[in-house]
Amino acid sequence: MELHIKGKAKLKGEVEISTSKNSILPILVASLLSDEETIINKVPIIKDVIIINEVLKQLGLKVEFINKQVIISGSPQNNNPSYELVRQMRASFLVMGPLLARRGKVRISLPGGCAIGTRPIDLHLKGLQALGAKIFLSSGDVVASARKLTGNHVYLDFPSVGATENIMMAAAVAEGTSYIENAALEPEITDLANFINSMGGKIAGAGTNVIRIRGVKKLLGTSYTPIPDRIEAGTYMVAAAATGGEITINNVIPEQVKAITAKLQESGTQIHENDNNIKIIGQDTIKPLYVKTLPYPGFPTDMQAQFMSYLSCAEGSSVITESVFENRFMHVQELLRMGAKIKAEGRTAVIKGCSELTGARVKATDLRAGAALLIAGMMARGTTVITESEHIDRGYENIVQKLTGLGAKIQKYN
Ligand code: EPZ
Repeated sequence: MELHIKGKAKLKGEVEISTSKNSILPILVASLLSDEETIINKVPIIKDVIIINEVLKQLGLKVEFINKQVIISGSPQNNNPSYELVRQMRASFLVMGPLLARRGKVRISLPGGCAIGTRPIDLHLKGLQALGAKIFLSSGDVVASARKLTGNHVYLDFPSVGATENIMMAAAVAEGTSYIENAALEPEITDLANFINSMGGKIAGAGTNVIRIRGVKKLLGTSYTPIPDRIEAGTYMVAAAATGGEITINNVIPEQVKAITAKLQESGTQIHENDNNIKIIGQDTIKPLYVKTLPYPGFPTDMQAQFMSYLSCAEGSSVITESVFENRFMHVQELLRMGAKIKAEGRTAVIKGCSELTGARVKATDLRAGAALLIAGMMARGTTVITESEHIDRGYENIVQKLTGLGAKIQKYN
């Protein structure tokens, strides 16, 4: 799949943000914890949702995806999600906790690494072992079993989002009380806890670094609407600032994009916040920045690539440090092809602002790098062709329609 973008485009108008991919994926997996019908509302039609629905179907659940609702019922009938599906998407590994809790055993392929790093799972396994799971590796699979899961204290060496979610789901129906210490603080963690509590769970402290989970015998059905996608919102915020446009972003929680707002304002962009929308007024000049990615509430790693495009035309040199993933600069090579002046070494990139980018043929290496290239293409003079653009569809619902609705000139070619 290719996207052809005709640059220079100043974005104008309003855009509606979809519900959060990184909330919906663990919430869909948590439906495994109940036999009763669970309904997730306002679900975006994106590839990652399709994949996780396939994983749940393959485990024996009934999954319907109609009118942006995912309706799930039934209970898991087997213990091993397919290698192909797990390799396609790391988030599939989140089924481990719920399957251990419901089936007492699980065999799952080690999730593949990907463009942004090796993506280890040691913290997931440490937490599940603390709850009583016996785990060993066998020819590329993780094999885990637990006669029953018992509440315990788990200290996370790093506030891993996925590990916090996997352990929280298993602990929700374990016997006794668990504490996750140094837990991830991301809003998607709180959303997952709220979802499980809406099923009768007893989780307290989500959004802080100690989460207490009182195990319950049974979780019930529920109907739930996840939070808006703060990274999708941030992507449109940067797109407006980078193109000197003026857009209003609807269905966003300003508190959840504070770090992005602060850095955009620091570089000169004007921002006006209301309860659930944000107005971005891009300027003709962009001041250079120091940006360091950190776990929430720090600057999000999922916004790093998009900011690199934005800063490639700043008035001066910027520095970006990627402290969360070890290899999340794959977009640098592609931006260099568009005339950006970037030097990346290890986890630090120095971006010397250039007067303007020029369109080129570039490749999307992952979801957020693809979004960054879309932004660069709208900033650049001439036409940019993004190949392997299917990466972008994994996490941005209708992004071509949404951007063309704001005045971008983008054509999609299969
Ligand atoms: C989630 O991934 C998100 N994905 C990622 O978004 C996001 O970049 C990441 O959190 C950080 O915010 C989903 O929610 C589906 P982590 P996850 O476990 O859970 C290390 C996107 O673009 N680590 O917090 O995999 C790991 O190597 C995606 O939407 C261990 O060392 O992230 C990494 O350096 C990309 N051992 C760091 O923690 C472990 O057991 C962050 O990983 C687990 C993680």
